[in-house]
Amino acid sequence: MLFKNTQDRFGAVSKTFHWVIAIDFICVMLAGLYLAELADKATALHYFKYHKEFGLLVLVLVVPRLLWRLYSAVPDYVASLRTWEKRLAGAVHFLLYCCMFFMPLSGWIFSSAAGRPVDFFGYTLPNLTQDKALGHFFHAAHQVVGWSLLGIVGLHVAGALKHHFIDHDITLRRMLPFGVKDTGEDKP
Ligand code: HEM
Ligand code: HEM
Repeated sequence: MLFKNTQDRFGAVSKTFHWVIAIDFICVMLAGLYLAELADKATALHYFKYHKEFGLLVLVLVVPRLLWRLYSAVPDYVASLRTWEKRLAGAVHFLLYCCMFFMPLSGWIFSSAAGRPVDFFGYTLPNLTQDKALGHFFHAAHQVVGWSLLGIVGLHVAGALKHHFIDHDITLRRMLPFGVKDTGEDKP
């Protein structure tokens, strides 16, 4: 398997970052939506500890992911994609990167403002602010963006599935481990 990306393939490092963060992000997102609606507040509070820790893990992982992306430039889109598909995919990827920063940071900010210490696997993180108004703003933003994620992530996944099952191109396979050969036999 390739280590670095090439002009038309994702390498092992980018794939690993993508799938580790994707699984973490989706679990944290679904847990947030579920726990926020749970009537049993004591149970919700207990499990929100994991929501926060695994949410912060996204922030920790997205930084080296972006640095790797700078070092090992992303492959071109599959050649058969139409211009609007490339633009839409680019916009959704950009939004997803913004959310990978915004969701954990907003959660950290409004938890700090509410005076709730934020733990990260045994370490207590510094409080970012005590400003209540700022806390309310980021709390509301965390909720609004949190619900919008269903649409953004849904569009991203639907796009990947469309390319696989309807267009029959290698968009999804080249992001899967061992999905395509490295030899370029099935070049786009
Ligand atoms: C990838 C990171 C994260 C994602 C995708 C995410 C997503 C969500 C979602 C979808 C909700 C439900 C919104 C609602 O209906 O209220 C939520 C709620 C919440 N999140 Fe996060 N979150 C992330 C990180 C964090 C972090 C790092 C913290 C704190 C340090 C945090 C604290 C909370 C709290 C306290 C709630 C409950 C808000 C309420 O309903 O009052 N989240 N999150
Ligand atoms: C089952 C869920 C998912 C599937 C099937 C999936 C599939 C894919 C595929 C096939 C690509 C490659 C697109 C291309 O060839 O240009 C991709 C890229 C990408 N995905 Fe996902 N993805 C999923 C979940 C997620 C999640 C949850 C996030 C973010 C939180 C995410 C963020 C990204 C980003 C940012 C890229 C662009 C890569 C880059 O430019 O660095 N994906 N995804």
